[in-house]
Amino acid sequence: MASSPTFAPLISWTLLVFQSLEFGHSEALTNVSCFGMEREALLKFRQGLIDHSKRLSSWTSKDCREWKGIECSKKTGHIFKLDLRNSCFETSPNGYMSCLDKSSLAGKIHASLAELKHLKYLDLSLNKFSKQKIPQFLGTLQRLEYLNLSSADFDGNIPHHLDWFSSINMLSSLQSLQLRGCSLEKLPHSLSVNFTSLRFLDLSWNLINSTIRFYNFSKLQHIDLRVNHLKGAFPRTLFDNNQQLSFLDASRNLLGGQILKNFSSLYKLRELRLAFNNFDGDVGNSIHGPLESAQTRQLESFKDLEYRSLSQNSIWGPIPVTLGELSSLTESDLSHNKLSGNIPESIGRLSSLEMLDITNNSLNRVVSESHFANLTSLTELSISSNELVLSFDPAWVSPFRVQWIDMSGCDLGPKFPLWLQTQRNISYLYMSNANISDEIPNWLSDISLNVIDLALDNNMLRGPISRLDGNKMQLLQILSLSGNGLSGSMPNSLCAMKNLILLGDNRLSGQITNSLCHMKQLEVLILHKNGFDQVLPKCLSNLTNLRLLDLSDNNFTGEIPSFGRHSRSLVVIDLEKNSFTGGIPSQLCQLNYLQFLSLAQNNISGSIPSCFNGFLSMVGDINYQSYWMYSPSIIVMVNTKGTSRIYDKTLRFFHSIDLSANNLNGEISEELTRLVELQNLNLSRNNLSGKIPSNIGIHLHTVDDESVYRGNDELCGALF
Ligand SMILES: *[C@@H]1O[C@H](CO)[C@@H](O)[C@H](O)[C@H]1NC(C)=O
Ligand SMILES: *[C@@H]1O[C@H](CO)[C@@H](O)[C@H](O)[C@H]1NC(C)=O
Ligand SMILES: *[C@@H]1O[C@H](CO)[C@@H](O)[C@H](O)[C@H]1NC(C)=O
Ligand SMILES: *[C@@H]1O[C@H](CO)[C@@H](O)[C@H](O)[C@H]1NC(C)=O
Ligand SMILES: *[C@@H]1O[C@H](CO)[C@@H](O)[C@H](O)[C@H]1NC(C)=O
Ligand SMILES: *[C@@H]1O[C@H](CO)[C@@H](O)[C@H](O)[C@H]1NC(C)=O
Ligand SMILES: *[C@@H]1O[C@H](CO)[C@@H](O)[C@H](O)[C@H]1NC(C)=O
Ligand SMILES: *[C@@H]1O[C@H](CO)[C@@H](O)[C@H](O)[C@H]1NC(C)=O
Ligand SMILES: *[C@@H]1O[C@H](CO)[C@@H](O)[C@H](O)[C@H]1NC(C)=O
Ligand SMILES: *[C@@H]1O[C@H](CO)[C@@H](O)[C@H](O)[C@H]1NC(C)=O
Ligand SMILES: *[C@@H]1O[C@H](CO)[C@@H](O)[C@H](O)[C@H]1NC(C)=O
Ligand SMILES: *[C@@H]1O[C@H](CO)[C@@H](O)[C@H](O)[C@H]1NC(C)=O
Repeated sequence: MASSPTFAPLISWTLLVFQSLEFGHSEALTNVSCFGMEREALLKFRQGLIDHSKRLSSWTSKDCREWKGIECSKKTGHIFKLDLRNSCFETSPNGYMSCLDKSSLAGKIHASLAELKHLKYLDLSLNKFSKQKIPQFLGTLQRLEYLNLSSADFDGNIPHHLDWFSSINMLSSLQSLQLRGCSLEKLPHSLSVNFTSLRFLDLSWNLINSTIRFYNFSKLQHIDLRVNHLKGAFPRTLFDNNQQLSFLDASRNLLGGQILKNFSSLYKLRELRLAFNNFDGDVGNSIHGPLESAQTRQLESFKDLEYRSLSQNSIWGPIPVTLGELSSLTESDLSHNKLSGNIPESIGRLSSLEMLDITNNSLNRVVSESHFANLTSLTELSISSNELVLSFDPAWVSPFRVQWIDMSGCDLGPKFPLWLQTQRNISYLYMSNANISDEIPNWLSDISLNVIDLALDNNMLRGPISRLDGNKMQLLQILSLSGNGLSGSMPNSLCAMKNLILLGDNRLSGQITNSLCHMKQLEVLILHKNGFDQVLPKCLSNLTNLRLLDLSDNNFTGEIPSFGRHSRSLVVIDLEKNSFTGGIPSQLCQLNYLQFLSLAQNNISGSIPSCFNGFLSMVGDINYQSYWMYSPSIIVMVNTKGTSRIYDKTLRFFHSIDLSANNLNGEISEELTRLVELQNLNLSRNNLSGKIPSNIGIHLHTVDDESVYRGNDELCGALF
């Protein structure tokens, strides 16, 4: 009753405004065409820009409220929003974006923009302002609440010129500041700032290497500092008086120390990402510091934590029992650290946990059913590269259905783990080097209906390979069985598989039949180091998609199939260490993309065909950059006992011909001088005459066999 009189006038006032808007009763409030001054300012701003794709073609009409990217206040008519973000599409989940360059705005940002005094929202992200400074006048836009200059090709790398920052610092209304990928290198030593309203700060993908001290960020909810060069201790002041932080990403920096000792104020933290840093210290003292101190409200404070990544640091010590208290945790990534001891059984209480990754630590005890008792949400489990022994009751029925499971390097044996029988939705199953000494169970094919990648290499699997039923594994792309004791000949059903087969280092034998040629999609065939001793079917040369053929280290006999016109996708042919006879078929010269040819250690005779300049890739006539780009599936790893072969994109830098240890005769052909991209040419131990052309190897960049087979870390890093 008492409140109705106060409400009544308020309501009618609102109605009045509404009416005036709709029907134009009040000139002052409605239908103000855009303000002349603001229109002029925008036109000047536009003049400074280069707009190839004519994105701003609507910027001509009299009323600038109709212009693209502009929004005006219905009440005052003033422009409050300018959104000129370029359109992009995401290409990868790591945050790299690929933008439509042609729709980029370029040129200069005219200071006339400062006339838009009522601007609250400014987004210039993903354009190409080609290395100009972040404009200082932005600091005069006092009403700005949202500023997004991400990836707009600004050059923030102007030492001792932090003017832009001090001006932005004046923006006490700013709530959201995004300077992702702005080449920022320096920030003021201490960000003692006026950003008292700031809730969202993105400084990721810059080059910031100065120490940041955050003060007065008491409202910050989201801070993204990932991929910078931040060094030293974590900017703890960030936490001072901040009870709002729910998202913190400082991954991929050079931060160190025992940062997490005091998280007690971060009641609302939901996501914590600190992977790829140098943090060390006892894990119990860090994230769980507050938990150890028990009971109190600190414990509660982490109830909301959903995602946590501390991967790739140097955190040590046992996983605290209190981990089981983080009841909201959905993802926990502790991989690549130095954790030791056992995994606490309390982990089995995390019924929200979807992803657990503790790969590559020194955890070393027995894992049993109780560790998984209530993990009903688990879909990704990675526990490889520890010293764990998995010991489950054979009758155990797991409460989860995993899609990704990596238990490589764990002791799962000697029997093939029976509990996997109920896992009917696996896409990736890795159990390499897992001390399994058993036959392949018949049910493995039944649980593999969705499996894309199956790795069982380096166990002691025995019995016939025909236990694997390719008909049931229609999605299979990679099969690693190397380093086992499997026997028998390849079942036709495996030959029906569409993509990749890896079967190195077994005791497979017998004949490769014509049925292999029905695998029209086959891109990679590796039968390295088995016991094959027959003639290859001629039709192999008709596999039009075959890129990589490794039949090395068997005892194949007969002639080399005439790979040529129909197999022009071939990049790698490795037939070394066999008993091939006959000559080198001249059709080979049609393999324009060939980069690696080894026929070494066979009984091949005759002369070297004088057409090797048909290997255009070796001549340097192929834009293989684009070729490789469109052949992503060439990335293949073959693990054999002791050595590991990786055929990946590093191959694109390697060109090699090895014909050594055969019965070749005749002159070394002139044509070989054209193969300027070759880094390795081995013709030794034949009966050839003439000289090895001297210009071979001009592209040699100390690449040796290691780099072909092991790959180059940096390049692999870029790949995965
Ligand atoms: C109000 O603005 C619209 C365009 O936004 C225009 O068509 C109309 O004539 C204007 N009315 C008055 C009274 O100015
Ligand atoms: C800022 O701009 C970038 C690039 O357009 C975009 O990905 C990001 O989501 C924007 N940030 C916010 C909070 O809108
Ligand atoms: C904070 O802003 C006020 C004006 O809004 C200004 O006078 C003061 O210098 C600013 N402080 C810092 C540290 O930038
Ligand atoms: C930051 O990097 C620049 C060059 O990139 C270097 O000159 C400077 O010394 C670095 N600063 C710190 C604090 O490491
Ligand atoms: C900002 O932080 C500093 C250091 O903690 C403090 O002295 C100052 O009072 C704070 N200013 C505001 C406006 O909160
Ligand atoms: C942890 O934070 C609390 C509250 O902010 C503070 O009182 C205490 O001194 C801090 N402890 C350490 C070790 O920083
Ligand atoms: C294990 O982690 C360390 C870093 O802690 C890293 O150097 C090493 O390469 C990792 N090993 C594997 C197999 O991933
Ligand atoms: C598993 O969850 C159920 C229901 O939430 C609960 O009753 C049971 O005690 C839990 N068991 C363990 C081992 O946490
Ligand atoms: C492999 O399993 C056997 C039992 O089958 C066990 O004695 C041995 O220690 C295990 N080896 C490794 C490396 O785990
Ligand atoms: C099976 O896995 C797929 C992803 O591979 C997922 O989308 C689906 O929900 C899963 N189904 C069940 C029943 O778990
Ligand atoms: C390869 O395919 C072509 C056309 O399909 C066919 O004529 C030829 O006989 C095949 N060659 C072999 C060796 O199978
Ligand atoms: C390879 O086959 C030839 C004859 O076909 C045989 O003489 C030779 O012993 C075999 N070599 C091996 C390593 O099996």
